[in-house]
Amino acid sequence: MDAFLIHGPCRLSGSIRIGGAKNAALPALTAALLTSQKVVLADLPAVADIRTMKTLLSGMGVAISGEEPSDVTLDAGALSSTEAPYDLVRTMRASILVLGPLLARFGEARVSLPGGCAIGVRPVDLHIMAFEAMGARVAVEKGYIHAHISRVGLHKGRLSGSVIRFPNPTVTGTENVLLAATLARGRTRIENAAREPEVTDLAELLSRMGAVIRGAGTPTIEVEGVERLGGLGIDTSPHAIVPDRIETGTYLAAGAITGGDVRVDNARADHLEAFLNALSDAGVWVERGEGFVRAVGGAALRARDIVTAPHPGYPTDLQAQFLALMTQAEGTSRVVETIFENRFLHAGELSRLGAEIAIDGNTALVRGPRRLEGAPVTASDLRASAALVLAGLAAEGETLVRRIYHLDRGYAGMHEKLCRLGARVERLAG
Ligand code: EPZ
Repeated sequence: MDAFLIHGPCRLSGSIRIGGAKNAALPALTAALLTSQKVVLADLPAVADIRTMKTLLSGMGVAISGEEPSDVTLDAGALSSTEAPYDLVRTMRASILVLGPLLARFGEARVSLPGGCAIGVRPVDLHIMAFEAMGARVAVEKGYIHAHISRVGLHKGRLSGSVIRFPNPTVTGTENVLLAATLARGRTRIENAAREPEVTDLAELLSRMGAVIRGAGTPTIEVEGVERLGGLGIDTSPHAIVPDRIETGTYLAAGAITGGDVRVDNARADHLEAFLNALSDAGVWVERGEGFVRAVGGAALRARDIVTAPHPGYPTDLQAQFLALMTQAEGTSRVVETIFENRFLHAGELSRLGAEIAIDGNTALVRGPRRLEGAPVTASDLRASAALVLAGLAAEGETLVRRIYHLDRGYAGMHEKLCRLGARVERLAG
């Protein structure tokens, strides 16, 4: 298993360009299942999760050409299977996003239950509840979700529009229903919908394919089902995936924790307001430019509390990175994680570097500033791994971050980007 060997401390400076968002690219890829015509996507990030999704779709018979981050063309004109097998789904939970499109276009799907991951149980009960409300019969047997729509009776093999009221916002739950509703009979109304920019980006893609969607980005989304969707990108421009706000925030935090000056190009400040405000409140100078965001550290950092929340609240995917930053801030910071039940795995590893963090349920108290010293640490999940890298950049001496395959799932070319910003990082093959 590969590792990063980081020689710290360093001061990052310079600019990098970030690519399309992993969490927007994944539903965009499954959207291709909704049409028999070709769909061309641009700016897909070159990360492991995208490769996994492409393998999953190819296994169903989707013809895929092109290598991210160049344009990728998908053709779901002739599927051979409507099954998402366990050996792929267990490596990437977002595989659940094939369920909605398969049900909508083919009236059936067999998708392995994703199972949990390091940060939590990650149930999919809300996805199942929604599709049952839309007329699907869903049975969970031997670790698989078996869903189909009866060809006789009320539904006649086609999903029916319905009012879907989520008890709490769910990003992929909203996306799954959005995908399915485009071809359902009648109107679907999603209440308490997720408002993440990745949901809005999916709605823009679907609209260009002929879907009729209102309210994406608000708590209430309405979809008028249509008979079929078209493709895009052959005689029109491809759909360019929205820039990755989490990757942006990660590198801005790296600039801040090293007292450096990092500018991220192809970034959308309007997708990161809660995070940027937290950085500013902590004493980091933030510049919101035309197509870029810049963070300048160096001034004394102040302890700052954060509480994660659905968008536009503070993003849970930037909680670990901010917690690492707060180890260098004067005072005690309260970090409250409200989305996932086990998302402080980075705390124990940060303590090995000298951080002082007390965990009490869903709250972490971070006392700083603490001088960090390099040590071997082990990554556990995608964003926790990023937090360990950030701390290693600020720590005195060598930090060995093991199991960085977690990072490869969602950060394209992290090693090259960090070195371009002046970090001394080696990638060790393990
Ligand atoms: C998406 O996961 C993201 N993944 C996650 O990013 C992100 O952390 C999360 O949204 C929250 O923003 C992708 O988009 C591929 P949820 P998702 O459904 O959709 C509960 C990363 O690091 N819930 O919004 O799976 C759930 O347990 C990843 O890139 C149910 O109870 O998250 C959680 O407490 C990590 N039942 C809350 O809702 C359900 O059926 C929000 O989860 C679904 C969710």
